Amino acid sequence: MKITLSVIKADIGGYVGHSESHPDILNLARDSLQKAKDSGLLVDFHVTKCGDDAQLIMTHKRGIDNKEIHKLAWDTFISGTELAKKLKLYGAGQDLLSDAFSGNVKGMGPGVAEMEIEERISEPIIIFMADKTSSGAWNMPLYKMFADPFNTIGLVIAPNMHKGFSFEAHDVKEHTKVTFNTPEDIYDLLVFIGAPSRYAVKAVYSRDTGDIAAVSSTQRLSLIAGRYVGKDDPVCVVRAQGAFPAVGEVLEPFTKPTLVEGWMRGSHHGPLMPVSVEDSTPSRFDGPPRVIALGFQLAQGTLIGPRDMFADKSFDETRRQANLAADYMRSHGPFEPHRLPLEEMEYTTMPQVMERVKGRFQPLEE
Ligand code: 13P
Ligand code: 13P
Ligand code: MG
Ligand code: MG
Repeated sequence: MKITLSVIKADIGGYVGHSESHPDILNLARDSLQKAKDSGLLVDFHVTKCGDDAQLIMTHKRGIDNKEIHKLAWDTFISGTELAKKLKLYGAGQDLLSDAFSGNVKGMGPGVAEMEIEERISEPIIIFMADKTSSGAWNMPLYKMFADPFNTIGLVIAPNMHKGFSFEAHDVKEHTKVTFNTPEDIYDLLVFIGAPSRYAVKAVYSRDTGDIAAVSSTQRLSLIAGRYVGKDDPVCVVRAQGAFPAVGEVLEPFTKPTLVEGWMRGSHHGPLMPVSVEDSTPSRFDGPPRVIALGFQLAQGTLIGPRDMFADKSFDETRRQANLAADYMRSHGPFEPHRLPLEEMEYTTMPQVMERVKGRFQPLEE
């Protein structure tokens, strides 16, 4: 039986500032998706939040890029925005960059990660959701999960993983895509995905079965809007076990709080801290960036779960390290590499400041 898993997310208002989602907004989203489930459009759903981002996790039988499913998400975000405006939440409707729905939420602001799968005898799925960072944040974790034997011992000892995986990466500025096969192409792959502000891993496929293993949202809000509106705060869906990495191999890359772009005003590098849903409340300098992981078993499309995977005690040390790294990075104040490089700030204040002071620039006398 083919099942589609669609994760569609948007920041439609922060409570307080950019630190959290308001429970009334999430309840409104639950009511909206429950109606869609009652009507038969959805098989099942789960609504959650990561920081100030509302997350709609939906299963259905209509395939990816389906107009009704995208419209359901869009309409839910629109009515959520109306409530956010009433509560005067911060940045109500922040990620909705268009007024009119035209068949697909892609390019309209919300982040989208979808996969259509043939459900296996057992189908464990991990959904990663991040706040205060951008889509390339999944590059290193996905590389470690699917291409690094120091992370995933299954690549070495599981015969059905031995052929490796293929990575589809997107150039988020030029709107092109490229596929690399691991292990033989890893050096070429790393040239590109090692630059996560430009290249983002969109999907990973098993070379043994051809099945999709992971899919992420690669929308870049600033490139859509042409100005800074907020960070992309991406999501990523990963299938586990069988021909894919074990659940523990899927979670293992997050034990290092790697530096990602985002944090305050979307303009800084900071450590990505794995936390429980409850602890996804980025408050210190609007951060540090957070990632949550919800685990589900799919049963004929029903979402059995979630289990809050990063609530586990074994991530305590990572969180401590992330807080130390946050202090260290903060000590650089407005200087790079804490602050993003200038070319990444082209959609923020930089052009306006330049416009104002450009008359003060004089040619050097050589
Ligand atoms: P169990 O023996 O608990 O099923 O674990 C098997 C396994 O492969 C863990 O990674
Ligand atoms: P969000 O992208 O999560 O809304 O954060 C924006 C911001 O500017 C935080 O300081
Ligand atoms: Mg926000
Ligand atoms: Mg956010």
